[in-house]
Amino acid sequence: MSARFRITALGAQGDGIAVSDTGPVFVPFTLPGETVTAARRKERAELIAVIETAPERIAPACRHFTVCGGCALQHMRDDVYLAWKRQKVADALRARRIEAPVAGIVPCRSGSRRRAVFSARLAQGRAVLGYNRAFSHEIIDIEECPILVPEIEGKLPLLRELAGRLGRSRDAFHLTVTRTESGLDVAAAASGPLSAADRLSLTEFVVGSGFARLSVDGEIIVEPRKPQVDFSGVMVTPPPGGFLQAVASAEEAMAERVLKHLEGAKRVVDLFSGSGTFALRLARRSEVHAVEGDAAALAALDRGFRAASGLRRVTTEKRDLFRRPLTVKELAAFDGLVFDPPRAGAEDLSRQIARSDVPKVG
Ligand SMILES: C[S@@+](CC[C@H](N)C(=O)[O-])C[C@H]1O[C@@H](n2cnc3c(N)ncnc32)[C@H](O)[C@@H]1O
Repeated sequence: MSARFRITALGAQGDGIAVSDTGPVFVPFTLPGETVTAARRKERAELIAVIETAPERIAPACRHFTVCGGCALQHMRDDVYLAWKRQKVADALRARRIEAPVAGIVPCRSGSRRRAVFSARLAQGRAVLGYNRAFSHEIIDIEECPILVPEIEGKLPLLRELAGRLGRSRDAFHLTVTRTESGLDVAAAASGPLSAADRLSLTEFVVGSGFARLSVDGEIIVEPRKPQVDFSGVMVTPPPGGFLQAVASAEEAMAERVLKHLEGAKRVVDLFSGSGTFALRLARRSEVHAVEGDAAALAALDRGFRAASGLRRVTTEKRDLFRRPLTVKELAAFDGLVFDPPRAGAEDLSRQIARSDVPKVG
């Protein structure tokens, strides 16, 4: 049923919030100060029209905005968006009674995301490739994605064709696409089993498309060139679909802060090191012990270390840091620490770190 709503706040996921007799109503793609009409379904409502527009509203950069579930706030002015993001961090700390200064957000420019996870599915003899509609399994077939680096956005038609050649059923699957120094690294997951003939034709297609590597469920199908990422001069070939900071400039900004904080540290432990984003940069002047749960990421880090010159000693340890956090006693071996956990956090490890004497960077 359509109703009129006055938006008074922005929720944690970027939805506008209106207050109703029965509690808050979340209206996506609206801004505080706006009056809108929307069709309500329980605590969510689908925007129909904006009646009074907030001065912070701008035209979105992408034609798929509001249909594709990938972005929530393209209709908000950049400066207001950055202030909102920063406030989310400040509020989260305050809610836990943690006193800590919160610096300004480091903005990432549009067209700078070098890694994307696309959803794909075969439908009516072709593949759809894009992102899921919000709260839905429906895949929105995208023609553009202005947040991506042009090297990925410009290859969307080829990636869609590749998805069509990979899919073996009507089930959805994923393509993780990373822009590397040597071309696109494409990692498919759950696309279905491949015959020898499929592999041959995929190989020809990948070579002809100029991609660096294609892997399916972790198995490399073809690698015309080693996909390489540049960790400030140390070249690393990450494992298929492995973690990589999504925006190179954001990685640089984080690395700069980590290096500054750990200036003078002799022996650093890098917890949740991935493929060595921070460890290999730090190794220019400190010994580093990299700890991580993904063996393939650690192997990539180690290969990068061995191929580089001028680095101090780097050791690696495969360890599940949730089940077996480093203890205060183990942490005593280090005078520097980097802690970059996945979204789930790492509560037990955090307690050990808090009790240790190591200077920390979060
Ligand atoms: C946010 S990423 C950071 C990686 C790296 N610091 C970087 O910036 O590229 C988190 C890392 O934690 C690793 N990880 C996830 N769960 C883990 C666990 N239980 N134990 C150890 N490592 C884990 C992931 O494999 C991933 O490499």
